[in-house]
Amino acid sequence: MQALIDRIRRREARCGIIGLGYVGLPLALEFARAGFHTTGIDVDASKVERIGAGRSYIVDVSDAEIAEAVEAGRLVATTDFAAIRDLDTINICVPTPLRKTKDPDLTHVVNAVNEIRRYLRRGQLVILESTTYPGTTEEVVQPALESSGLRAGRDFCLAFSPERVDPGNPHWGTRNIPKVVGGVTPDCTAAAVALYEQCVDTVVPVSSTRVAEMVKLLENTFRSVNIGLVNEIALMSHALGIDVWEVIAAAKTKPFGFMAFYPGPGLGGHCIPIDPFYLSWKAKMNGFEPRFIELAGHINEGMPRFVVEKVTDALNVKRKAIHGSRIHVLGVAYKPGVNDIRESPALNVMRLLRDKGAVLSYSDPYVPALREDGFALDSLPLQNGYLGDVDCVVILTNHREFDYRAVARTARLVVDTRNALAGLQGDNIVRL
Ligand SMILES: NC(=O)c1ccc[n+]([C@@H]2O[C@H](COP(=O)([O-])OP(=O)(O)OC[C@H]3O[C@@H](n4cnc5c(N)ncnc54)[C@H](O)[C@@H]3O)[C@@H](O)[C@H]2O)c1
Repeated sequence: MQALIDRIRRREARCGIIGLGYVGLPLALEFARAGFHTTGIDVDASKVERIGAGRSYIVDVSDAEIAEAVEAGRLVATTDFAAIRDLDTINICVPTPLRKTKDPDLTHVVNAVNEIRRYLRRGQLVILESTTYPGTTEEVVQPALESSGLRAGRDFCLAFSPERVDPGNPHWGTRNIPKVVGGVTPDCTAAAVALYEQCVDTVVPVSSTRVAEMVKLLENTFRSVNIGLVNEIALMSHALGIDVWEVIAAAKTKPFGFMAFYPGPGLGGHCIPIDPFYLSWKAKMNGFEPRFIELAGHINEGMPRFVVEKVTDALNVKRKAIHGSRIHVLGVAYKPGVNDIRESPALNVMRLLRDKGAVLSYSDPYVPALREDGFALDSLPLQNGYLGDVDCVVILTNHREFDYRAVARTARLVVDTRNALAGLQGDNIVRL
């Protein structure tokens, strides 16, 4: 193992990333910037082609960053897993979705690990970064790799390090978000720490892969539960005739013991709506019935219906039914500043409105076309007083690019689920 650590410290190790998405591509660039020869492997040939041509498909990564790494010969992308043979380190950054039953779907991890197994050799370091339930590294990845005849901790290193990247966040990225690392043995931890120390400001070693896996799930469950709590407070405030946004703004003046979370149309993205269910699945498999996770999931999943209820009531006051009304959605990405619509609550709200007969349109500067779930819509530019012609505008994502004052001025009716119209009053404005 010391030979590997020395190669890493001299930056002579050849690094590999499997899965070049929101997590894998920024990490590959960080390795390349640190001077490592980096190979990205993805099953999606179009991503591989785009990297080769110096073109980005991730909001936080510019074309120039990719082109610079590729031209310097420090980043290559391929669909050929045989490249693993020449690598010293391999980070797995593939998706970990849920099945429809809310059970973990480890297909992508298993596929990636089976490919690594084919080419695994002594002295390599394998790190799983995909979010998953505690025990995955030791119960799924380790046995699959050891079926090669090589042993983790003796012949090769194996570790887990959760990815904590926050796409669209201008302040925190791969380099300055502290990296938690746990290996299957202390030597494995040491090798993984040595790798991340080359390109991440702070590395936080923990005692095992299980602890590292659980850290990520605690973080995301914390968010899901707190968002669930504030969504319930929003529903309660609605019933009591209280403005929940004013309550939160005042509560967050407390300098300690309170952290502001905000209500909204539901959870979105690849992490918060999904990861806690990895944990609850594993807990249930071990005879423990988790309560917070299920309850928060239940409340958060009910929010799109609440938004539709708000739209229905608001239109009702104008003597209109949802059926036949022209409803324009502002923002379909799951959060501001990103083009990611995975699990976006906007899609749930739009589906419910469509089922009730609404005539839908939308604007989102990051999502030019919507072809999910049977939608065939193109984002509309917000000029020419378009909003004046629709019956209701529903704000679902507060992208900075929207001129919300103009929206409030022009639209006949606005249902604002994100407090984007903070400080504005009017008969045409309804808040969550
Ligand atoms: N997106 C985030 O904000 C974020 C943040 C923290 C953690 N994570 C976790 O990181 C992991 C990756 O998420 P992501 O958002 O980068 O996903 P993504 O869908 O953006 O990228 C995953 C990539 O893996 C590729 N892939 C799938 N199976 C493969 C295989 N067998 N071999 C090679 N490539 C394969 C896909 O083609 C895709 O390009 C997930 O576990 C996710 O939960 C994501």
